[in-house]
Amino acid sequence: MMKIVVEKNYEDLSKVAANLVREEIEKNPKLVLGLATGSTPEGMYKELIRLHKEEGLDFSKVTTFNLDEYVGIEEEHPNSYHYFMKDILFNHINIDMNNTFIPDGQAENPEEYCKKYDKLIEEKGGIDLQILGIGENGHIAFNEPDEELNVGTSIVGLTESTIEANSRFFDSIDEVPKTAITMGIGSIMKAKKIILLANGKKKAPVIKELLKAEKITTKLPASMLLLHHDVTIILDEEAYRG
Ligand code: PGA
Repeated sequence: MMKIVVEKNYEDLSKVAANLVREEIEKNPKLVLGLATGSTPEGMYKELIRLHKEEGLDFSKVTTFNLDEYVGIEEEHPNSYHYFMKDILFNHINIDMNNTFIPDGQAENPEEYCKKYDKLIEEKGGIDLQILGIGENGHIAFNEPDEELNVGTSIVGLTESTIEANSRFFDSIDEVPKTAITMGIGSIMKAKKIILLANGKKKAPVIKELLKAEKITTKLPASMLLLHHDVTIILDEEAYRG
């Protein structure tokens, strides 16, 4: 079931999302939390840091799994998702870094590594709450629109549209990696609860498509969420109305 929540602006969306995460951590301090990168969740992370610093939200027993990482850039590179997560969240809360997992874009044996990542999620009890953004092309994590979608964590090629969208973080478009490692649609669908966030006018067309979708299609990877039993989509007015 998809529940739709529309907030006035990005700030409110971020607070509502952070509050849902807070509630889950308070219910279960050992929460297994699936995290996303990109611009969309930045405000939510900022609010989670505030909740930690000012209201004592405790991350000490929380485990996190990130959705994806670029292949071919070092963990220390400012554009890696390893770097992003430390910078935007982990360095500012009391999480045990041993309990944070991000796919390794440098793995020597990527195929084996991908299987291990899904196995590790299972060993930790599965993801309780997964945070997702959505690409303008309908991707979730780096599962790009295609004839087929991967079930498990996989190495994937990025589409031109994603490379272009993400080039804003790099000095030039040529520097954007063309390959990534991403949790598959199946890895995501196994999460007990999912929150998808989208803000801004640029996301309005894809959100419109998703909200009117009555069929699932690999051409709109986010449509797979129609099969999930507990999805909350939190939007701002711009993403909802355009
Ligand atoms: P964004 O990316 O949050 O930077 O818009 C979302 C996504 O591509 O999934």
